[in-house]
Amino acid sequence: MYSTDILIIGSGVAGLSFALKVAPFVRVTLITKKKRADTATNLAQGGVAAVLSAKDRLEDHSKDTLISGDGLCHEDIVRLVVEEGPDRVRELADLGVNFQRNAIGDEFDLGMEGGHSARRVAHAKDLTGREIETALLAQVYANPQIEVLEDHMAIDLLIESKVTGQKEGQDRCLGAYVLNCSTGEVETWQAKVTVLCSGGCGKVYRYTTNPDIATGDGVVMAWRAGAQVANLEFVQFHPTCFFNREAKNFLISEAVRGEGGILRNQEGIAFMKQYDSRCDLATRDAVARGIDAEMKKSGADCVYLDITHKGRDFLQQRFPNIYGTCLKYGLDISTHPIPVVPAAHYMCGGVQVDRWGCSSIRNLLALGETACTGLHGANRLASNSLLEAVVFAHRAAQWLERRWPELKSLSQAKVQAWRTGFARSIEENVLISYNWDQVRQLMWDYVGIVRTQKRLQLAARQLAPILAETKEHFHDYLLTPDLIELRNIVLIAELIIQSASLRQESRGLHFITDFPEKDDALFGRDTVLEKN
Ligand code: SIN
Repeated sequence: MYSTDILIIGSGVAGLSFALKVAPFVRVTLITKKKRADTATNLAQGGVAAVLSAKDRLEDHSKDTLISGDGLCHEDIVRLVVEEGPDRVRELADLGVNFQRNAIGDEFDLGMEGGHSARRVAHAKDLTGREIETALLAQVYANPQIEVLEDHMAIDLLIESKVTGQKEGQDRCLGAYVLNCSTGEVETWQAKVTVLCSGGCGKVYRYTTNPDIATGDGVVMAWRAGAQVANLEFVQFHPTCFFNREAKNFLISEAVRGEGGILRNQEGIAFMKQYDSRCDLATRDAVARGIDAEMKKSGADCVYLDITHKGRDFLQQRFPNIYGTCLKYGLDISTHPIPVVPAAHYMCGGVQVDRWGCSSIRNLLALGETACTGLHGANRLASNSLLEAVVFAHRAAQWLERRWPELKSLSQAKVQAWRTGFARSIEENVLISYNWDQVRQLMWDYVGIVRTQKRLQLAARQLAPILAETKEHFHDYLLTPDLIELRNIVLIAELIIQSASLRQESRGLHFITDFPEKDDALFGRDTVLEKN
């Protein structure tokens, strides 16, 4: 039995920012299932959107966010995030994040991205996520109040009524069962407050821009525990993932289109104007659908993003990572267009939380991509995700500081240890890899950018035996990271299919051909799922 004040699950920008903000008054344990920098934050290229220039206005950032969210954003949350955003970006800079500045160095060099009406993306060229992750990790290393445990994977949350057999009033979270991947032991971690910051679920799709850790862990743990989860049908497909068999999941940042990149089909025709009057800088839902339609029409494997007109010097300077990586795979982007395809990128839904990051279970919070705060609605605006993570990490820290005098006196509960029963070692990993591949292909083919009722029904039907088989494996075999992830990925797939089937209209990222119109009267609200 282990105990700590605050258990944070995940080491991306949300978890690290929250840890740093609360460390002055609590003891923090931050667990991460792989190495500390294996996060989606680390791969983020674009940057953080915020009103940082005198030429920009808070109202405009709010308006762009609301338009992108297609009627489902919570306006109060949008206003709050947009207003608090600039201070949080300056705070990151004070912590050592080296955002790109103008020639004199007194102002942020702001990037442009789809759906924005002004240049407002603070960036570190095309390595913004890595820059933020590195700066925050350096602060975390130096903080004796924060313990980081790598190779520790959360399995399930400790929910009072389930692990003690009793509860007072509303159920509360007491921590988590955690697999120590180095020893194979399941550890029981008790905490006064547990914070889910485990990122998204891109790995549920065959093609994704996400790192391997993105298996929906936080959302499904919360759902299994009885928390409300919302809007899981809104999976964002990034329009431009590098189409190259050897380059695994390499993103071509939206900032490339922000700097003038043009999408062309195989004939070299700039096709986006046929699909949206905003052309290449339309919001991501519209661009991904345009590419999908173009690929279906021509039967081609990809489309092309052409930025050759900007010249080598500019590209090497502004996009060193993209330029260098493409070159490594034999493509000079200053002379040749980049082959691209859409790929699963971001989960707009998640664990439903209030304006402080608190879920519907007491003492369980969710931050970053794991949370559904109401900011993104049906389609996240580019570069609003890192922004949401830092704003809500700050708000959750304020909440904790207010509540700490009462929370710190909570006594330890008598929690049952994890029971392995008669579980035995799994001898054949193919039992896991086969189901894993099936789920990802199924989701890609049946629950992708454009959906139909028929395909959603087939997906649900084909997933059912995989769910049953995975449940059986979970009881029969000793836990391994792969088995835990398979269990999570199968469940997140089920929740996405369920949410998509409930929304019988088309809105934002959810486009279903049987219901091509938006229906505000029936569906102008969040899709909330809760167990039982
Ligand atoms: C990108 O650079 O295109 C990704 C940024 C984001 O997901 O907002």
